Amino acid sequence: MKLIVVKNQLEGGKEGFKLLSEAMQNGAKTLGLATGSTPVEFYNQIVNSDLDFSDMTSVNLDEYVGLDGSNDQSYSYFMNKHLFEEKPFKVNYLPNGKAADLDVEVKHYDSIIDENPIDWQILGIGQNGHIGFNEPGTPTTVTTHVVDLTESTIEANARFFDHIEDVPKQAISMGLASIMKSKNIVLMAYGKEKAEAVKGMIEGEVTVDLPASILQTRDNVTVIADEAAASLL
Ligand code: GLP
Repeated sequence: MKLIVVKNQLEGGKEGFKLLSEAMQNGAKTLGLATGSTPVEFYNQIVNSDLDFSDMTSVNLDEYVGLDGSNDQSYSYFMNKHLFEEKPFKVNYLPNGKAADLDVEVKHYDSIIDENPIDWQILGIGQNGHIGFNEPGTPTTVTTHVVDLTESTIEANARFFDHIEDVPKQAISMGLASIMKSKNIVLMAYGKEKAEAVKGMIEGEVTVDLPASILQTRDNVTVIADEAAASLL
């Protein structure tokens, strides 16, 4: 894993944007995208650039079960607001959290990922080391699946909702096996709340108890962390 330590999220966004620009110059056409507060500055850098995304495809990591794009807490809404409305892509894929049959949706999303192999994947990391919504204990072999969110993730994400009861209890998430197939992975982490997870990911044993630790087992992974997130390394 390559580690880049930056001063703050703005610097991290700029570093991430540099890596993405290089990847696009080298022919990357399909981006794996993430939500949460972590990639917001990175998306700002894209929006404020003159890079053309009209021939690009995006495939998002996850979506809450039960929320559709009109709900301002859905990941679909987040992506439209922070990126897609400002920077049109050829096509944007997200799991459909309102699908009538979640089993069908999961298989459908797997076929989307198979048809659109991801060249470059951006990731955040949960305080418990989750990536996407692959919570601790998730087997590394899973592809897209429906996840029961852990209490700690519900608590961590409650800050975006009016009440903690409003946080959905389930999500559809790309699996670890799908994430690991991306040609390049850039994971960003900011703030002291992420320091334990970052230490475990980079220096700990590879274990399903800390899903991001699986990234140690492959090449082409860059971690961009601010000083607080890197403080225990
Ligand atoms: C969420 C998302 C992840 C994200 C993580 C961290 O639960 N499913 O994709 O990386 O939590 O969120 P944040 O960037 O807001 O800290």
